[in-house]
Amino acid sequence: MLRQVLLAAARSDGVRRAVETAPYTRGVVRRFVAGETLNDALDVTRTLTGDRLLVTLDHLGEGTRDPGQAETVVKGYTDLLERLAAAGQSARAEVSVKLTALGQALDEDLATANARRICAAARAAGTTVTLDMEDHTTVASTLRVLAALRRDHPETGAVVQAYLRRAEEYCGELAGAGSRVRLCKGAYAAPESVAFTDRAEIDKSFVRCTRVLMAGRGYPMLATHDPRLIEIGGALALLNDRGPDDFEYQMLYGVRPVEQRRLAAGGARVRVYVPYGREWYGYLMRRLAERPANLAFFLRALAGR
Ligand code: FDA
Repeated sequence: MLRQVLLAAARSDGVRRAVETAPYTRGVVRRFVAGETLNDALDVTRTLTGDRLLVTLDHLGEGTRDPGQAETVVKGYTDLLERLAAAGQSARAEVSVKLTALGQALDEDLATANARRICAAARAAGTTVTLDMEDHTTVASTLRVLAALRRDHPETGAVVQAYLRRAEEYCGELAGAGSRVRLCKGAYAAPESVAFTDRAEIDKSFVRCTRVLMAGRGYPMLATHDPRLIEIGGALALLNDRGPDDFEYQMLYGVRPVEQRRLAAGGARVRVYVPYGREWYGYLMRRLAERPANLAFFLRALAGR
């Protein structure tokens, strides 16, 4: 119930304005977001890679309905990729891209062309792109764009959301050689007809999907903070003769940082998803919807305590 309210708030302009202008939200935002500028993102990247972690950077923004705004996002990514290469960070840091920020809702071809430019810039910088998966209404289009991009850029990463009833089928289709696939639970509001809503059902689907990806020939990227799913993932990797370089764990910036370092110190590949930029509102609301403890922290900050 609370989750549904927060996910609805994530789409409300009125709530967004109230939260963005509240004087005390900055501290909470900084817990989950690297900062508003490219320099903030690079500083955080340097710190994380110094701790033997890998990074995927998200230039925040979503739901663009203006081609000019989508162009600004492309420029944001190409600048970021140039700076990553110049800073010698591109071997350890890639980028995550939301197609709705590139104009997907306006025109799929425009979003594809924009994403292709980011993939080319990533290749020139010596790194890769992963296409985030958004609201369930965008899944079919995102998979079409992914297939188009992979013709020239087979290294482009995909995302499967375990809460989708078709998740296992998507994993089967995406588990081919060279295919990088991030598996996550799924962060958006979705109806029962297309998604599991019971937490135990979502976890079971996550395990089934992990099994398919680990048995496949691609590169699984397990994006979860859930200790049980992390342990099961490690066990399934071993069972499928995968070494520590044959898959990775992924977690969000600001969530379980001690566990991120513990896994990396044990020899695992661990990638941290680092969002930055001014459009942090929708991202922050999804993080609050995931965990009541995050929400309590946020409400205390809003009240100025
Ligand atoms: P969940 O939130 O259910 O937490 C499970 C358990 O993890 C908790 O019970 C607790 O034990 C532990 N835990 C969680 N948070 C903790 C904390 N702060 N401190 C201590 N323990 C904690 N979604 C999407 O729809 N599309 C996408 O493209 C992506 N991309 C993405 C990338 C990466 C790298 C990550 C990590 C996540 C995403 N997501 C996403 C978000 C994802 O779908 C999901 O909403 C969140 O990761 C939360 O789900 P968890 O698997 O962490 O489990």
